[in-house]
Amino acid sequence: MPKQSSPFNIPCRPRRLRKTAAIRSLTQETWLRPENLVQPLFVLEGNGKPTDIDAMPGIQRFPIQYLLKECETILKAGVKAVILFPHTLGSLKNSTGDEALNPNGLIIRAVKALKKEFPELMVMTDIALDPYTTHGHDGVLTVDGLDVDNDRTLEILEKMAVLQAEVGVDMVGPSDMMDGRVGVIRRALDNAGCADTGILAYTAKYNSGFYGPFREAVGSTTSAATGGTLSKKTYQLSPTNRREALLEAELDEDECADILMVKPAGPYLDVIRDLRLATTLPIAAYQVSGEYSQILAAAERGWLDKDRCREESLIAIKRAGADIILTYFAKEQAACMR
Ligand code: PBG
Repeated sequence: MPKQSSPFNIPCRPRRLRKTAAIRSLTQETWLRPENLVQPLFVLEGNGKPTDIDAMPGIQRFPIQYLLKECETILKAGVKAVILFPHTLGSLKNSTGDEALNPNGLIIRAVKALKKEFPELMVMTDIALDPYTTHGHDGVLTVDGLDVDNDRTLEILEKMAVLQAEVGVDMVGPSDMMDGRVGVIRRALDNAGCADTGILAYTAKYNSGFYGPFREAVGSTTSAATGGTLSKKTYQLSPTNRREALLEAELDEDECADILMVKPAGPYLDVIRDLRLATTLPIAAYQVSGEYSQILAAAERGWLDKDRCREESLIAIKRAGADIILTYFAKEQAACMR
């Protein structure tokens, strides 16, 4: 090694550990693995072709036949888990979201087909009524139509969870933010002989503008019943609140949730860290539709490097303390890591 002369006395030089690729990987603190990722998938009714989602370039809604092909690709990329969301036909929606309890509904058929073809694939589902209600809320409305009725909604959600568990869903994900939902669903599952079905609790689900593109994806629109703008402020957490997430975490853990989740992910890294420190349960984070779309949109304009920003956004979520990341990038990211 050639001797270097320096006019300064700088014995501590952190750059020593950044010199070569070998030493950088030796000291790398955070690693992303395909096994940590969950691919959200939109399921479409019928036997047609997959359809595009304008606000989410690269993401499609899949009829069941194509969903199977997509899951084959996802498994080959090394991702072992998916979470399903239905695009419900407008004609099947009503104010009480009855289609959610159809024993032959779209999600039920999708789960059966997936579990038959790929028993090793972990299949998760979303428990909430918004894909099924005309007003787009996650539950049924109170008599005056001004709010979502917590306990009447729970009566529906527990049945929905049991129906899905009975056809082999590995884990149900209540995303409705009703009080008491984890406990009510846990008891219903246990009473139905589905003690092995897990609960991925949407513990800290914030009232976020970043869900915008998702509403297009599942075809759930703004509500006429609430004056045109759909507000979920009476049940989702306010973006201003951090301690409140810890309260939700405590309740979900007491009610026997298996995994606690923070959603969205990128704008809530502090909350991911708080929950990581507050519990021994695995922590999941949901990088939501708007987080995906903003990277895609900037990349389309040549303003950001998509591959770099995709990976960096996911590493940041992992670094904050998430064990598991639900992301629309799952398949693509995993394929780049092989
Ligand atoms: C509703 C639900 C939403 C998402 C998942 N489940 C939207 C909402 O609460 O309005 C959003 C996911 C995303 O944006 O990717 N149960």
